[in-house]
Amino acid sequence: MTFQEEIKRRRTFAIISHPDAGKTTLTEKLLLFGGAIHVAGAVKSNKIKKTATSDWMEIEKQRGISVATSVMGFEYCDYKVNILDTPGHQDFAEDTFRTLTAVDSVIIVIDAAKGVEAQTRKLMEVCRMRKTPVIVFVNKMDREGKDPFDLLDEVEAELSIKVRPLSWPINIGQRFKGVYNLFEHHLDLYTPSKQTITESIAFDDINNPELENYIGEADAAKLREDMELIEGVYPEFTPEPYLAGDIAPVFFGSALNNFGVKELLDCFVKIAPSPRPVYAIERVVNPEEEGFSGFIFKIHANMDPNHRSCIAFVKICSGKFERNVNYKHVRHNKLLRFSSPTAFMAQKKEVVDEAFPGDIVGLPDTGNFKIGDSITSGENIHFKGLPSFSPEMFKYIENADPMKAKQLNKGVDQLMDEGVAQVFTHQNSGRKIIGTVGQLQFEVIQYRLLHEYGAQCRWEPISLYKACWIESDDPAELENFKKRKFQYMAVDKEGRDVFLADSGYILQMAQQDFQKIRFHFSSEF
Ligand code: G4P
Repeated sequence: MTFQEEIKRRRTFAIISHPDAGKTTLTEKLLLFGGAIHVAGAVKSNKIKKTATSDWMEIEKQRGISVATSVMGFEYCDYKVNILDTPGHQDFAEDTFRTLTAVDSVIIVIDAAKGVEAQTRKLMEVCRMRKTPVIVFVNKMDREGKDPFDLLDEVEAELSIKVRPLSWPINIGQRFKGVYNLFEHHLDLYTPSKQTITESIAFDDINNPELENYIGEADAAKLREDMELIEGVYPEFTPEPYLAGDIAPVFFGSALNNFGVKELLDCFVKIAPSPRPVYAIERVVNPEEEGFSGFIFKIHANMDPNHRSCIAFVKICSGKFERNVNYKHVRHNKLLRFSSPTAFMAQKKEVVDEAFPGDIVGLPDTGNFKIGDSITSGENIHFKGLPSFSPEMFKYIENADPMKAKQLNKGVDQLMDEGVAQVFTHQNSGRKIIGTVGQLQFEVIQYRLLHEYGAQCRWEPISLYKACWIESDDPAELENFKKRKFQYMAVDKEGRDVFLADSGYILQMAQQDFQKIRFHFSSEF
């Protein structure tokens, strides 16, 4: 196979959903179709159960599982599919944001009864920012749920994206009979079963009177009526607006019952994008380029507290990656060689000799890398698009063991490089503030500092509403702002100015009073 063909056949994507919509179940069924696993139940949910927010065993278990399931690659009909796993718990949403920078497309799972939920909305914002193509899978059609037209309206309104159904349900819940596939024109009849694959019946024209024989008169009439409405309301499906991130094709099914999943996968591999050009500060990098380049989007620390080793996950953006070849660590301006890079096939991790754009390779590391680092075959390329978002919860971190100040600082530094949370240094007091997306991250930090660095920390409350990065074209005004707001100023890890607003009102006033200052809620602007 040529280099170009290897790139064209790759599909690297993530499944996102609000917890419990069915992401784990769908992932598992996709792996079953890909032959990557052979029995249902093999994919362990990497979610920390809601009841176990403070159960450390659960967190450790989760970390163990999440290495194995970080990337799941498999071959399907000449395509190489790479599923990037995202943490199920919303306190780790920042991790999911970063994983989304490494995918070329996304499948969103929505619960037919619950519709669009909070976490879906948040993750979709990131997809929209990056213009990531998305496909929507409406799950749990075997249960009572919303009317499909209402659901599509809700998706359009709540996720700010146009939709186009590519399959259409015949009833829902107890009376669910199956779907009509508008992409390949066939009728898929539903029989609840967790193992078998449904046969589909080719049905080019739903006006064919045979339809009645399969689903009965009333449902056939309803389906025809719905089809007419769909053709009238929604634009015809073409790949371009989907690839541009403007339209989301929609499928209906039941992951648990293995229904609608194969149809989804078949359509997905055909229409989803192969690795796309990636934006770097210097230029646009095309996957077909000969020179190798990639960036680190995730770092996974080893669970063995005696060895400070970790795995850095690199997304290959261009060229071919080869084992035992010297590559440049751009930030350190240093050559590195990897003798045991790993690739992820199904749930196995194995040493690979080569990998292509779209693939994810795990590099054993002892602290050389941080999130966002690039490695290349020589060129100085800095990839964009790994922003930090303004955290939602803040606490002062204090040293609880005076003998271990050095360990604490080192631990905080490394955990922040790993992207566990963000640290801001208050200008006024010099105190360090940790910002997270959820409470659980504070617990994880405290636990890991103790177990991996032997350092003890204590949290102290701080009342903060938002941290925003500030800039201005007018240096004098920026200085003036920083002077006037001295007690609210901090710097982030990179030394950028951050304004810590303790209330929405303070932020609003600052924005009003300082029109020449721009306030950013993510670190990349
Ligand atoms: P998540 O990763 O998005 O959090 O969701 P997950 O797949 O774990 O699914 C959440 C629950 O919904 C699970 O039930 C799962 O069995 C169920 N589920 C998934 N797909 C379907 C479907 O198509 N129909 C129906 N009726 N249920 C579905 P659970 O009881 O929470 O877990 P478990 O004990 O079954 O593992």
